[in-house]
Amino acid sequence: MAQLQDIILAEPRGFCAGVDRAIEIVERALAKFGAPIYVRHEIVHNTYVVNDLKSKGAIFIEDLDDVPPRATLVFSAHGVSKAVQNEAAQRGFQVFDATCPLVTKVHIEVAKLHREGYEFIMIGHKGHPEVEGTMGQLDSGIHLVEDVADVARVNPAQSEKLAVVTQTTLSVDDAAEILKAVKARFPQVREPKQQDICYATQNRQDAVKVLSAQVDVVIVVGSPTSSNSNRLREVSLKLGTPAHMVDSADELRPEWFEGRARVGLTAGASAPEILVRQVIDRIKSFGAISVRSMDGLTETVKFPLPKGLKLGDAGTH
Ligand code: F3S
Repeated sequence: MAQLQDIILAEPRGFCAGVDRAIEIVERALAKFGAPIYVRHEIVHNTYVVNDLKSKGAIFIEDLDDVPPRATLVFSAHGVSKAVQNEAAQRGFQVFDATCPLVTKVHIEVAKLHREGYEFIMIGHKGHPEVEGTMGQLDSGIHLVEDVADVARVNPAQSEKLAVVTQTTLSVDDAAEILKAVKARFPQVREPKQQDICYATQNRQDAVKVLSAQVDVVIVVGSPTSSNSNRLREVSLKLGTPAHMVDSADELRPEWFEGRARVGLTAGASAPEILVRQVIDRIKSFGAISVRSMDGLTETVKFPLPKGLKLGDAGTH
């Protein structure tokens, strides 16, 4: 039986620019205004990150009723609906918006095309906060499809002015298949100039495709709520390589590695590198000897912080 030997790390993996920025917004707000800082929804979908920020004084809420008057409030990286934005403004909170700029880009496109009379088909997962935020940019006129079967059922009021938008963290391949069905049913549908699935999602899925062909099992570090982490596990499974997702090193099970010589390791866009290091240590304790990175892209994307939290802004530590 093969002995556990190598751990091969996906490149790129882990934090994307939108997650980096969102966490930094909460940390800088804490440094500048002091605890507590209220955050609507998990800032990013990762248990470790959320617990770490809680320990520093962030309070995570779902309902704005739970935010006291004059508090400082941060919107999560997933974005919020217009209704939430308006309510926060009416209640007079000091708001910092950690919505990923690549999600905001989708919101802006929806608003622009809506003014031109478009209705929308949104490809995404029902109930995900990003989908709720994007659909909530308009009172009506955005129709959600989760799979090819939904495309046959969707019922826009007209089809001359119909545009497609997608959640940013979908499976690239699944989204392409659903888009194909949308185009077959509505040939004149308008597609985004550049796909809405973000660079980080695309790059991590591309990397795991290459990685899964080289290994006997893939481990994805990510929380169960993280859309892009779940997709990484599915990409590997679809290519026939067993894959498991763990929120932390203690969830690893020794039997996953029995008879497997090479382990591929990746992390979702919201999973910090410290968890990857802990997972490496635990897999080594099961017998792995060497650790190396696969060849891959180096990402250089960086997003600016909002006004009031940039270094050099008055009062920022
Ligand atoms: Fe933004 Fe993509 Fe990360 S949408 S938060 S860069 S996974």
